[in-house]
Amino acid sequence: MKLEIQSPFDMHLHLRDGEILRDVVNYTSSQFCGAVVMPNLNPPITSVKLALEYKTRILNSSKYDFSPFVSLYLTEELDKEELQKAKDNGLFMLKLYPKGATTGSENGVKEILSDKVLEILEVAENLGFILSIHGETNGFVLDREFEFLPIFESLAKTFPKLKIIFEHLSDRRSIELVERYDNLYATLTLHHMLLSLDDVLGGMLNPHYFCKPILKTPKDKETLLNIALNAHDKFSFGSDSAPHLISKKECNNGAAGIFSAPILLPKLAEVFEKHDSLENLEKFVSLNATKIYNLNRSNRKITLIKQELKVSKIYNDIVPLFAGDSMSWSLEQ
Ligand code: NCD
Ligand code: ZN
Repeated sequence: MKLEIQSPFDMHLHLRDGEILRDVVNYTSSQFCGAVVMPNLNPPITSVKLALEYKTRILNSSKYDFSPFVSLYLTEELDKEELQKAKDNGLFMLKLYPKGATTGSENGVKEILSDKVLEILEVAENLGFILSIHGETNGFVLDREFEFLPIFESLAKTFPKLKIIFEHLSDRRSIELVERYDNLYATLTLHHMLLSLDDVLGGMLNPHYFCKPILKTPKDKETLLNIALNAHDKFSFGSDSAPHLISKKECNNGAAGIFSAPILLPKLAEVFEKHDSLENLEKFVSLNATKIYNLNRSNRKITLIKQELKVSKIYNDIVPLFAGDSMSWSLEQ
């Protein structure tokens, strides 16, 4: 059995920089024709110059035809001129991290509803940017996303023309809000729809499944999986593949982030087939993104084939999601 998908997109991706970028980018660009690339590098991508240079390094590292949509890191210092320049240079994504919420968020925003940030967002709205948000407070870990909902709601109401993306939605209590506001959309990861907190610490501790937002309950994962299987119009696929070297995971102060890039489309095909929903896979990984983000579909087609794929235990010193497992689908080379 084969399945051809037009122009799949990964709308939330970490590619890092330097040697890691060169090591990981082709796992994504062999499967996806484009991706929203996160700016939480060290130092972060806070200017148009840094974003364009980063985009060039990504393009130079990819062996496949690939469009990186690099997002600009929103700091309180971002000004009107820089936003205009970003727009003129084809950048259209802004990423907002609450300060301290996750890896590389040290330069994030302290007070999201402050006058300063609201001014930036007003300019962003008028220029037609898309705002993507890591929506978590610093409260109890399982309630961080839930506690952040009033901020999403306030922004959705204040800026009705600003498209706001609720990144890596992980808590089923968030879904209703996304459905309620026309300008709210969300991305879903593979790990939040297949795994729960049990997979991180229900048995022996598994640091490779530690990520932000933390994996939630079995009920949350089932609900998210059903949204994906039905290719709900307001949700696009965003893997949040976030590679960290094994030495940064299996240590004290282990970093948050799951590296899923090598297995994404094969695993999605396996899961969608298992639930008799293969006909919805293209909508979930391609059409929804083109509509929500106004993207042009590329001519690139990806063929998946029902053939066993053995997931390596480690790729370039990074342990992947489902390390060592077998999947029933592969990418046709
Ligand atoms: C991401 C990373 O490592 O950059 N980590 C994660 O757990 N998802 C940052 C993020 O998207 O939160
Ligand atoms: Zn991320």
